[in-house]
Amino acid sequence: MTRRCNWRDCQAWKDEGLEFSTTSNEACKLYDAALTQIVGFYQDKSMGGMDQTFKGLKEADPEFVMGHILTTGLTLCSVSIDIKKDEQLQKSLDYLVTLKEKPTTTHRETKHIEAVQVLADGYMSKAANIWEDLLVDYPTDLLALKLAQINYYYLGQSIPMRDSIARVFPHWKPSTPLYGYLYGMHAFGLEESGMYAEAEIAANKGLAINPNDCWSSHANAHCFEMTGRHDNGIQFMTETENDWKICDGLADHIYWHLALYYVEIGNYSKALDIYDSEILPRCLNSTYTVHAASLLYRLEFEGVKVGKERWQQLYETGEPSHFKHLLVYNDLHYVMAALRSEHQDVAKAQINSIREFIRDRCGDQCDVMKEVGLPVCEALVAYENGEYAQAVDLLNPVRYKFVNMGASNAQRDEFQQLFIHAAINSPEKHHKRLARSLLLERKALRENTPLTDRLTDRLLAMNIDD
Ligand SMILES: [Fe+2]
Repeated sequence: MTRRCNWRDCQAWKDEGLEFSTTSNEACKLYDAALTQIVGFYQDKSMGGMDQTFKGLKEADPEFVMGHILTTGLTLCSVSIDIKKDEQLQKSLDYLVTLKEKPTTTHRETKHIEAVQVLADGYMSKAANIWEDLLVDYPTDLLALKLAQINYYYLGQSIPMRDSIARVFPHWKPSTPLYGYLYGMHAFGLEESGMYAEAEIAANKGLAINPNDCWSSHANAHCFEMTGRHDNGIQFMTETENDWKICDGLADHIYWHLALYYVEIGNYSKALDIYDSEILPRCLNSTYTVHAASLLYRLEFEGVKVGKERWQQLYETGEPSHFKHLLVYNDLHYVMAALRSEHQDVAKAQINSIREFIRDRCGDQCDVMKEVGLPVCEALVAYENGEYAQAVDLLNPVRYKFVNMGASNAQRDEFQQLFIHAAINSPEKHHKRLARSLLLERKALRENTPLTDRLTDRLLAMNIDD
């Protein structure tokens, strides 16, 4: 991997129109190093990795405003810590807010602090709007761009994700550090908006600049998936594996994409092999169980017996996050793991806790949970209990709202699959005919999908028009 080592000092940032209130060149350089690792999804060992870089930022200048914005903003965006229950994170935010009053704090830094404050209150969309407003005046502020992107992703907002990059791209010079990463960020927004050809062109430009730009590799992975080119996807991801797997912030997710191709083509043993050898070890290391749960759930849709032990392992690993309710998409996978590991009592408690979350809290995730997350959770339980007609009735009214649960089109597809499986298994003939409609619409969107063909064959054997 080609690593950057010429970090920007105070003057270099100022020359790019991004003045910092700090006078510490060391703090500015470490900020650059931190930002580089964030957009590259990797740990720079020469800098001691992300944690050491963050620590160094604070030591270089304890009042470094942009450093506090980066660390607090990013922690909030990691959706792993509930600020309402974490004293340390709350203290960090409170301190950050006091920095707004410093006479030296710049207009740009003040806007950042406002966005982080709003984000901490649960308003992802509002925070993204503040970062967008900031980008009008400071289009090369990569932290603002990245934090806005992360929140669009959590909200399933593909068009803003795409346009956000398009708006600032012409303001960047190819010689500006980290310029190449804009291609991957744009590519993902294009892909999620259905512009697959344009997305691939952008992703490949990003990879031409930096083969280790795993966000560009990832955008390509999505393109192969959504255009039904599973064999091409396997070839590309396998041939470039050494380029992207060193990006430890994204490797588990890219392996998940690779496994998905194998599920599609019916090579379940290979998919399970990737699960055991690549996804699970990373999941145990990070304690982030969502990709792993998603893959097991999809394999079980295909009739693969993954075994209760695998689910139990995920259930135990994800336990600290089971009642946090920071992201609807994640919560659904925690409920899934509880159900499949036969902790029905816990799944019930999770859903009760989700109801309390809806009642007591506010913000975007709270609204989405109420609107679509809760009915989907209830559908998971109904499906698990063999109450397929009830699962269909819960999913049908919210099917076009799945997008609001965030994550990507490929990720949310498992809820479309849940809907189809529930409709196929429902004892009601009307639901089986609904399954046929859903499969027809699925086929129209993606011609080459063996998974859809297998489900259609299963349905055809049921004489649903009799
Ligand atoms: Fe993805």
